[in-house]
This record gives sequence, structure tokens and C-alpha cells, in this order.
Amino acid sequence: MDVTSLPEWQILEARAAVVRGRRVADLFQIDPQRAQKYSLSLPGMLLDFSKNLIDEPDLAALLALADACDLADWRDKLFSGAPINATEGRPVLHTALREQAPGSAGDAVSTRVSAELAQVRSFVSRLRSGGVSGYSCKKFTRLVCLGIGGSNLGPQMVVEALAQPGPVTVDFVSNLDGVELASALAQADPETTLFVVSSKTFTTAETLTNAESVLRWYAGRASREQVLSKHFVGITANTEKAKAFGIAPEHIFSFGDWVGGRFSLWSSIGLPIAAALGFEAFERLLAGAAVMDRHFREAPLARNAPVLMGLISLWNCSFLGYPAHAILPYNQKLHLLPAYLQQADMESNGKSVTRDGSAAHYRTGPLIWGQLGINGQHAFYQYLHQGTEVVPADFIGTVEADHELPGHHQRLLCNMLAQARALMTGVSVEEVRRDLHARGLGREQVDALAPFKVHTGNRPSTTILLDRLEPESLGALIALYEHKIFVQGVILQIYSFDQWGVELGKGLAAELEQRFAGADFDGLDASTKQLAEYLRANGGN
Ligand code: F6P
Repeated sequence: MDVTSLPEWQILEARAAVVRGRRVADLFQIDPQRAQKYSLSLPGMLLDFSKNLIDEPDLAALLALADACDLADWRDKLFSGAPINATEGRPVLHTALREQAPGSAGDAVSTRVSAELAQVRSFVSRLRSGGVSGYSCKKFTRLVCLGIGGSNLGPQMVVEALAQPGPVTVDFVSNLDGVELASALAQADPETTLFVVSSKTFTTAETLTNAESVLRWYAGRASREQVLSKHFVGITANTEKAKAFGIAPEHIFSFGDWVGGRFSLWSSIGLPIAAALGFEAFERLLAGAAVMDRHFREAPLARNAPVLMGLISLWNCSFLGYPAHAILPYNQKLHLLPAYLQQADMESNGKSVTRDGSAAHYRTGPLIWGQLGINGQHAFYQYLHQGTEVVPADFIGTVEADHELPGHHQRLLCNMLAQARALMTGVSVEEVRRDLHARGLGREQVDALAPFKVHTGNRPSTTILLDRLEPESLGALIALYEHKIFVQGVILQIYSFDQWGVELGKGLAAELEQRFAGADFDGLDASTKQLAEYLRANGGN
């Protein structure tokens, strides 16, 4: 099906052409109930979509498109374990990992999930109580987690967000650049450090290179067998590869291949979260996600948070033509959320082929980027306010502070609200001129300065307020975005759960390694050849 040929799509295209001349601030004047109408209150969070350039007929048309694209059926397929990851021939069952009333994906899945969770619980409780030790019988006090992409971003983001002092510190190393591992090793005591190798495939070059370097680091301290059996844990969907690497079977934690890497923090991949925060906190994270799952399954589409977020993102990107989207947390502990969501969204919806194999001739998922909002204010917000591109944004804040220093939190939140407001209202040239006159500037000075101080405004944003940052609310927030990404992918007619676009570069890197070994760069494009020869001539290989 070509989605653009649907009448519902064409209605939206026609509406988008009209909407460009409309101002969000005016919509608030027309409808005093707008803030409430375009907000949703869910357990522990308030979502305010009202600053988006959308009105009731637009929303009705978006919901009609969702219906025409069988969104509700696709949602049922997701939860029931239908093989909706068609190009990899698999179901997509990360929701089964946090299901409170097991069963919808089938008994075999529930049984497996319970067993894997029990294995994590048992190991983590022994680890945290000092019951797991290394080659010299000293208990472990540090975990260094080796993994990349989905095997790293989720666990690290959650640990940074919820970290409390505990019996084990947890560090993460993802980079192939040895600087990161060297720095982690410099702080690690070989006798009391446990290395966790997290890799769904257990073939990822970055992760395995780091694991091999750790083994070399132990040389002269303990035998390879001692290190592998005592100091290594493997988390993977490919247990045979982990065994072949030499990890002891009782230290291998598995998960189903129906868990996508970027949706895997709920599986055994979350072991570092449970190690850092305690298993109970991990369960609370799962429970928070399950609450969002239930809401996504049961709430009517018009009052369904992930559906509304997906539709608004679709509206902004595919219809209004805004190609990027900023994630702006106003909470230091959420500093890794933009990077996490970048993978979750862009690896899912950064596609240009539709489900029937034809080219998508419309804009699919947006470029996701961002960083801590308050720091961004002094970096890229100039672009957000006055750049030629409109970049819709999500502002994410917490009602409660995560510290006790007076005077910080309210000021931080005022900044967040002010930025969202400024993006919406802007400042007209008349307002600028009035202000400059009031400051005593003469006519000539006003004429010269006014154009630079105009803010066009009308720049969309959504604000999400969590009552507090805790496992339940973070679990729900992550699940909200996961489902938002799914909704958008369904309507865009793309397969959101594969990632073929990351394969080409991996293959070419492996080929180049061989070429460096034989100093054979013939047949490469001239630019790559020149760079390779320069590297080789200057010792960069
Ligand atoms: O970057 C591509 C990717 O395949 C991601 O989808 C995945 O999360 C990451 O690599 C790591 O893969 P693995 O868990 O198999 O090591």
C-alpha cells in the first residue's frame, strides 16, 4: 500500500499547507481549554502537547490515518508475538519482558522470561551481598560492562539516571577507541572487578576487541582459564558464541532473539542495572514500563500517550516538513537520554524503503538529537530560536529535585518553561521596537537593531513532567518513547525493528583491516585510498 495514496494522507497534506500560516499562540486565544485538552495525565507524569501546531480537525485527521493504517491491529500483533520484524523473520517481544500478567505472547515466552529473570535475580543478589568472588577469592566490588549500541546505551542511561551508592560500582565501556577501556582499567582492581560482556550476537567487533584486551590485561596475574571462568559474565542471545569465547556456562545470561538490541534493557541485558541499583529497583523499572504498555493497549487512541506522540511527530516531520527533533532533558541524571533515544528512534525509523520493498517518497523518521536543555541553552538554542529550520522539541523535567541544594531546581524548571514558551510565542518586530523605544533608544538605533531581535516563534514543543525520577517513572518514560516510535513506523509503512543500514559499514571496515594487513589499497575509491595510504605511511594502522 502506498500510504500517500490514502485519502486520509491527502487530507493531512492539504491541512498542513493551511496550517503553516497559523500561529499556536492564537490557538490558545481561541480555545481557553487548549492546555487541558491537549494534555494527558498518567500515573506519575503529565504530558502537555498543546504547544504543537495542531488543532482538533488535524488531530481527527491524524487519528483517521492511524485507523486507515490499521494501527490497532498492528499493536495487537506486537503484543501477541506475530512476526512483525519480517525482514529478520521474528516477533518483537520486549513488552513480554515486563508483562505483569504473563500470557499474551504465549506460555513458552513467559516461562523463558521468568527463568531468565530469576537467574539475574539470584546472581545479582549474591553479587551485591559479596557472594561472588574472583581468582583470589576477593569479592567483586566493581563491574565493567563491555557492550555497544543497544547492549550499552539503555543500561548505562538507566544506571546514570537512578544511581545510588551501593556495594558495587558499575562502569561502562563501549568505544573501540582504547582510551575508554584504558581509563576504566586504570581505575580497576583486577582481583575485585567483574567484566560483563553484553552482546546480543556476541559477534560485535567493538565489544569483542575490548573483551580480548581485558584478557590480555590479566596476563601474568591469573591464567586465561581463571579469568574467563571467574571474571567474565556474558549476556547474549547467542549462548553458543559466548561459550566458544570461553565464558563459564553458569555465567552466561541469555535472552530471546525476539528482543531487539535497542529494546533490550528489560532483558538480561539489564543485569548491570540490577547490579547497580538492586534487583528490586530493576523490577520497579519493569513495572513502570508495564503500566505504559497497559495504557498503550487499552486507552482509546485519542487519549493514548504513545499514539498522540507518534502522530504529532509524524505531523511535524512528514507533513509540516520539520526534519529534526530535539530531546531536551532538564535533569542532570537524564543526560544520556538523548543518546539513548537517538538509537531507539533513528535505528528504527531511519529508513527509506516501505514494507512492500518500494522507496518511500515521503519523509520518514526525524533526525533525533539533543542534550541537557540547560547546557543547550548556552550552545544550540540560538539555532532553535532563530535558525532557518524549525526543530520541534521535547522538554523533559521532574517536579521533585534529585538533590537538596536550595535555589537550583525552581530556577532550572523556570528555564525549561521559559524556553518552551519563547519558542512558541516568539517576539514580533512591533514588540521589539516598543521595547527598544522604552529603553530610550533613538529611531535610528531601533531601526538598526530591531531585525536581529525578532523571534519568529511558532516553534512546536511537547513538555513531559515526571513527578519524580524513580524506577517506575523512568520505565514508563522509556516505554512511552518505544511505543511512540512503533506508532510512527506503522503509519510510515516501514519495518521499525530491523537495522540493515548498519551492516554495510561493518563489512567495509573488516575488508579494510585485511587491506591494511596486506598494504593493498588498489581498487578502492581514490579518496579512501589516499587516506589509507596516508595512515599507513604515518603509522596510523
Ligand atoms: O549498531 C548496530 C547494532 O546491531 C545495534 O542494533 C545493536 O544494539 C548493536 O549493534 C550491538 O549489537 P550486539 O548487541 O549484537 O553486540
